[in-house]
Amino acid sequence: MRTTWNSFANSRLLFGPGSLDLLGQVVGQFQAKRVMIFSDPILESLGVLKRAAKLITGKTYIFSDGEAEPSTNMVRKCIALHQDFKPDVVVAIGGGSNMDLAKMTCAAVSSGKEPESLFGFDQIPGPIGPLICIPTTAGTGSESSASAVVLNSCDGKKAAALSSRLRPEVAIIDPELALTCPPKLTAESGIDALTHAIEAYLAVEFYRLKEFESGPRPYEGNHPLGDLYAEKAIRLVGEHLIEATKNSQNIEARAGMALAAYLGGLAFSNCGVTLAHALEYPIGSRYECSHGIGNGIVLPGVMRYMRPVRESRIAKIGGFLGVTDSADEAINEVSRLREECGLPNCLSAVGAKREDLPSLAATAFSLKRLMELSPAEVSESDLLDILKESF
Ligand SMILES: [Fe+2]
Repeated sequence: MRTTWNSFANSRLLFGPGSLDLLGQVVGQFQAKRVMIFSDPILESLGVLKRAAKLITGKTYIFSDGEAEPSTNMVRKCIALHQDFKPDVVVAIGGGSNMDLAKMTCAAVSSGKEPESLFGFDQIPGPIGPLICIPTTAGTGSESSASAVVLNSCDGKKAAALSSRLRPEVAIIDPELALTCPPKLTAESGIDALTHAIEAYLAVEFYRLKEFESGPRPYEGNHPLGDLYAEKAIRLVGEHLIEATKNSQNIEARAGMALAAYLGGLAFSNCGVTLAHALEYPIGSRYECSHGIGNGIVLPGVMRYMRPVRESRIAKIGGFLGVTDSADEAINEVSRLREECGLPNCLSAVGAKREDLPSLAATAFSLKRLMELSPAEVSESDLLDILKESF
């Protein structure tokens, strides 16, 4: 039986309201003379990028054409800009899309590989250079995770690169930057963070997964440090998600959700995500609903499916969320949170038809890396049952 497990994190986290003001100091630690900023038009219009650039001594180049679903063609455009400007440090400001675009660009430039060849596990041969991530939404956990998801321009499908090289050197989390995040995006991102933490907490134990001879596994399976991250993240979501959604200017709620997202990122990027994320993948691409919406729709059904082998852990989640230590209460509370923050509660609400369910189950079941992280051995028909229950 396996007796060892790994855990990874950024080398530095700078957290708290006003932390963006310390960007110059953080960039200074790398003695950088040229800094490239990746972001998008919304953050540019809010004046965040000019403010960030002013804090940096040395030359800056701002790329502000980031989009919600960046593609590998967009990565290629950024590679050319990066090679032209030759930054010493890259700073990504925004949601997961901007951070993942920066990650993929840095990985492609440093490795000399085409972006499409970076997909999959461990395809990045060396360090990608100093990357500082500054999230403005609270959900994806890209600021603490070792993955990047972009559209593959060759087939139009979302694909993920998974490598410890993709974890940003530094995360700066300034909850004030989330004050302008709209309620819908706050809710969708928040449910994604909750799904990361719950899936990591319920994933198969590390000792039931085989060791890789070549080095650490893409996901270790559940382990004690992952539990620490996940438990705190779930507690924070229970305390702050509804308030952050309903009262956008509440800085305490924004800070709580920002920390939840960071910890959820650490939990899932070390221990793993499993059935909810596998099911979300075909749901999101087929019905063009957000990642958080898809996760939220299937999460209660996934918890119910795992209940026979995770009863006591699911019960504890109830306690973390502020209800009683009961599996029923925990699952009801997850459903309630999803609905109270205004997200759809079933597949038919995003346009799914009953006859679509078998093909959704088949696609999810093909994602073996996520299937093997399930705490109970899972079949395609089990997935179909979860989808029927979520219909
Ligand atoms: Fe996610």
